[in-house]
Amino acid sequence: MLLELNHIEKKFDHPSGEGEILVLKDICLEVPKGEAVAVIGPSGSGKSTLLNIIGALDSPSAGLVKFGGKDLAGLGNIELSEIRNRQMGFVFQLHHLLPQCTVLENVLIPTIPFSKDQKKGDAEARAKNLLEKVGLEAHLEHFPAQLSGGEMQRVAVVRALINQPLLVLADEPTGSLDRESSEALGQLLVDLNKEQETTLIVVTHSLELARLLDKVYKLQDGSLEKV
Ligand SMILES: Nc1ncnc2c1ncn2[C@@H]1O[C@H](COP(=O)(O)OP(=O)(O)O)[C@@H](O)[C@H]1O
Ligand SMILES: [Mg+2]
Repeated sequence: MLLELNHIEKKFDHPSGEGEILVLKDICLEVPKGEAVAVIGPSGSGKSTLLNIIGALDSPSAGLVKFGGKDLAGLGNIELSEIRNRQMGFVFQLHHLLPQCTVLENVLIPTIPFSKDQKKGDAEARAKNLLEKVGLEAHLEHFPAQLSGGEMQRVAVVRALINQPLLVLADEPTGSLDRESSEALGQLLVDLNKEQETTLIVVTHSLELARLLDKVYKLQDGSLEKV
């Protein structure tokens, strides 16, 4: 099992300063290597909170997260950032590309911490190959502002894949796109998941996107159920 969530609970302090909000209650989930999973649910149901916990960007109030058999709570900050940088790739609703860097430079940013360990040129060749797969070979030297919304999200997907992660986490990746670009991006995520043999977890409120994936879970009232 690549990912195991055991009885995850997440509470936040209430914004009023009094009491707590229980966002996730007793969530259990197992995701085998290679699977593509969708998590759907209404706005405010805790989807981003859950994804942040899976991606070790936040920790649960109770329960256990195991990634590759390792309990994340038992790892130090250096090991956690190593896992986040090397074994996970993130795609967000807004692409978060750096405006002053070209498409190719943006895609190569996650490889910088590992540039000592790999031959210069290897990462660049991989970047160009992936950018070609997503149809952006003509845009390597363009800046984000010169691209459409759908193209920027494709760059963000390639950036998430550049370190050959085991797990790709996408939070509303099509949320900022029109219907047509949204469908194309969803299909691209699925195709790359199969081709690159990664595991994919997509949070979305698009049922169309969710249907493209192997399994769909619904988050509602703090509980996760298979649909
Ligand atoms: N850091 C935080 N502090 C307090 N409350 C939070 C925090 N993050 C999220 N929440 C609350 O948790 C609930 C779920 O939020 P979120 O995970 O962003 O939902 P979704 O992604 O499904 O829209 C919301 O009620 C939100 O206000
Ligand atoms: Mg969210």
